[in-house]
Amino acid sequence: MRSVKIRNGITLRLLDESDAQAAFAVHSAATTGLSGDIVRKDSLNFIREQINDGFVVGGFTEKKSLVAYAALTASNIAIHNIADLLQLKLEIRKRFCLLDGVAVHPDWQLRGLHHALIAERLCYARDLGKDIIGVTVSPRNLKSLKSLIDTGFLVVQATFLYGGYERLVLTRNLGNSLDTEYICIKPVDIERFDEIVEAIGSGFCGFELSWDEQGKVFMNFGSRIYKTKPA
Ligand SMILES: CC(C)(COP(=O)(O)OP(=O)(O)OC[C@H]1O[C@@H](n2cnc3c(N)ncnc32)[C@H](O)[C@@H]1OP(=O)(O)O)[C@@H](O)C(=O)NCCC(=O)NCCS
Repeated sequence: MRSVKIRNGITLRLLDESDAQAAFAVHSAATTGLSGDIVRKDSLNFIREQINDGFVVGGFTEKKSLVAYAALTASNIAIHNIADLLQLKLEIRKRFCLLDGVAVHPDWQLRGLHHALIAERLCYARDLGKDIIGVTVSPRNLKSLKSLIDTGFLVVQATFLYGGYERLVLTRNLGNSLDTEYICIKPVDIERFDEIVEAIGSGFCGFELSWDEQGKVFMNFGSRIYKTKPA
């Protein structure tokens, strides 16, 4: 990956091992005050391994400070665990990879960096020949969940991960058109994990977030609308 200039004077480039400490500092700043219930806490060693093993893209300011990073993995143990959880068949597993962590320094949040880091990793996945992308997120991490849903990810599984925390598993098939329409069958209060599990068990996927007048958040579960009869 060559370096790419995006918005707000930020340049994206691949991280190397010498960036690990700076990435860990961004992770620590971004996750301070957030419990494991909301976000997985990663160690410096874990981030170093991610950089060495896979694709970790960083966002740098004009003064060359690292303010955001995000990982994509196609090879580690996590990917096998999620593929098992989703019961992916062998031919799909070969096409599968995982968005495996993102952090944006608090001073740089809400400027679209997460969106940009998702897009960059999807491009890289395509380059690797991977077109089925997975990601896990806490149902309470609304900032992250919103960006993933807005970029076409669907909630397809809900389980306990990373030491027993509630997590949604989302996937996106890069071959599917983003204007695919879904019909809402069941809006579920995002705080009712049991109902999310039930909706998925009924064969629905979560495709949209909505808010009621009191500000309560719902995940809309439903099915894809076929404009023509599916093959
Ligand atoms: C999650 C995180 C990466 C988002 O980074 P970011 O660069 O601020 O994200 P973006 O600016 O691209 O998008 C954030 C979106 O969330 C929305 N948002 C912000 N606060 C929100 C809230 N409380 N509820 C719902 N949506 C919210 C924003 O409006 C924005 O959507 P928009 O682009 O449609 O306006 C960042 O907050 C972070 O580093 N958090 C700590 C680590 C973490 O949670 N990692 C993800 C683990 S899955």
